[in-house]
Amino acid sequence: MQDRVADIPTPAVLVDMSRLAFNLEAMQDKAAKEGVRLRPHTKTHKSIAMANRQRELGAHGLTVAKMGEAEMFARAGFDDIRIAYALIGEEKYARALRLSESGCRISFCVDTMEGARAASSFFASRGATVDVLIETDIGYGRCGVRWDQSEAAGFGAEVDALPGLNVVGILTHAGHAYNGPKDESESLQAALQRVSDQERDRMLDFADALRTAGVGAAVDGSLEISVGSTPSISAFTNTERHGFRVTEIRPGNYLYLDMTQANLGVAPLDRCSLTVLATVISRHDNADGTQRFFLDSGKKVLTSDTAFRADGYGQILSGTQPAQPMDGTVINGLSEEHGWVRATSDVDVSVGDRLRIVPNHSCVVVNTQPELYLVNGDDVVGRIVVDGQSLVV
Ligand SMILES: Cc1ncc(COP(=O)(O)O)c(C=O)c1O
Repeated sequence: MQDRVADIPTPAVLVDMSRLAFNLEAMQDKAAKEGVRLRPHTKTHKSIAMANRQRELGAHGLTVAKMGEAEMFARAGFDDIRIAYALIGEEKYARALRLSESGCRISFCVDTMEGARAASSFFASRGATVDVLIETDIGYGRCGVRWDQSEAAGFGAEVDALPGLNVVGILTHAGHAYNGPKDESESLQAALQRVSDQERDRMLDFADALRTAGVGAAVDGSLEISVGSTPSISAFTNTERHGFRVTEIRPGNYLYLDMTQANLGVAPLDRCSLTVLATVISRHDNADGTQRFFLDSGKKVLTSDTAFRADGYGQILSGTQPAQPMDGTVINGLSEEHGWVRATSDVDVSVGDRLRIVPNHSCVVVNTQPELYLVNGDDVVGRIVVDGQSLVV
């Protein structure tokens, strides 16, 4: 066990304790202020310890993307797990049924009649009923029925009438909040506000249409209205429309943040709690007067994800306390085990130096590691085990 950051073998992934605490608390406070339940998406941390912390702070249930994650968190004692995903296949339904028979409230998404009928026939033929949410596309263009199509409300009513399925709510992910401003005249903040307002209003309009179509939960007012991405929630305000309000938010990335969020204006760089610690393993001068140096972290740690308005594959920081970008450096290439950095001649970096990098996308970086180092300044104060790292189904 290393006690000092200086002794950690690299490459490694660090999480700053106080920034983590700040981010976790800020999101819980936001949920309380807006009168919604926070059901964090655990695909970011895949960690039982982090989920426990979110629950201690007031999170109401968990969100997962995969059945295996649901099983892992259920084994750890979580009893209300939402699979924010269109679950397809009898093998998955059988696992969902087992979890629900063990006392865990399981819910998942449906967005096609084929999927709904398959789930209905599986659960109904076993005398069981499962909670489902109608996945709704309010502009991202991924899965989901479009909120504004006249057939969408009818689809909800048809699903509601199927045996074995209990339509408890509607769910959307405003992933287009990651696109940033629509044109040069729009500011970062205005873009976040636009998508966030759109996410709320379109969901409330859809709830209204479902009520008109006679969907039970919309008629009796119990309909769960679940929204969320970290960027859209950063600008979220809850207001009433047609007598409905958003009931639940599902951000995931917010506890670690990354260059994507910083560049979108979701949070400043100094709120990013997760960094990659890398060692400079080689340095050479270029013919044009610049220099190139190489880090011991390549695609397998930084991942090849790009980020909104980012020049490279993560931002190198100056100094050991993550705060300021190291000017004049760009991670402009990656091979599996090498990070390629182009630097201006005045950048003072030597072989053996250890640098911190805010990655472009923390969720995928976490999934490369069995555990992360929890740090406080120069001290290592614990480990965050990524319990779900190897779960692929
Ligand atoms: C369905 C769904 N819900 C919630 C989230 C959480 O969003 P974010 O990663 O922006 O916090 C995601 C992220 O991919 C998602 O796909």
